[in-house]
Amino acid sequence: MITVAIDGPAGVGKSSVSKELARRYGLAYLDTGAMYRACAWWCLHEGIDLDAETPDEQRIITTVGAFFTDDHFDISVDPDHPVVTCDGEDISEAIRSAEVSAHVSVVSGILPVRSILIAAQRAFIAREASAESHSGGEGIVAEGRDITTVVAPEAQVRVLLTAREEVREARRAGQAADSGAHVGADDVAKRDAMDAKVTNFTTAADGVVTIDNSDMTLEQTIDAIAKLVEDAFEEQ
Ligand code: DC
Repeated sequence: MITVAIDGPAGVGKSSVSKELARRYGLAYLDTGAMYRACAWWCLHEGIDLDAETPDEQRIITTVGAFFTDDHFDISVDPDHPVVTCDGEDISEAIRSAEVSAHVSVVSGILPVRSILIAAQRAFIAREASAESHSGGEGIVAEGRDITTVVAPEAQVRVLLTAREEVREARRAGQAADSGAHVGADDVAKRDAMDAKVTNFTTAADGVVTIDNSDMTLEQTIDAIAKLVEDAFEEQ
């Protein structure tokens, strides 16, 4: 059983890298950003005004809590089909909309919301250690902002991916163009500034390997982390 934790800001390429690593080593894949996005989508769906000057935090916490305890939410950990559903409906595209991108940090910035999600994420990671898991117990690649530090600081491989802001903006714009209407416009700098108030994804904690991939291709980034994964497997 191995846990690979990958953190980094928006647009650094975490998802592409994490999915490919999971495929290569037969691991499960958990996109924790998709979980926060799904919560923001659900709050908007439930009619909560996330644009309000002071959003109703208590209502957001209760609504997110019910999203999990009433089993509305599900996420597949198959890297080839990382589908997010709400009451069985596929919301994978809806959670990438410009509206959700613009509001997700309001929801993820509320500490009790984070506690709910961190507990759920730890449960997913623990489940992947059991034989009934998607990957047959081989392990998981989890990506986000606080995986190396809070969700899974015990992970055998911990990486902080970084890249210069203009590179990340360009990658996000490219993703939006490639996916047509599916991925909405995303103000990466604004979102990072809000996210940085509650998570530290700019400096690596002790034992976390920083990889600046501004001048690296996707393949080179994957290969650099793959080397760390292989070392970790060898150590087991
Ligand atoms: O990875 P992403 O850009 O899809 O993440 C969406 C938002 O979720 C991001 O703006 C911050 C939040 N997030 C978080 O606070 N902690 C995580 N582990 C993952 C994402």
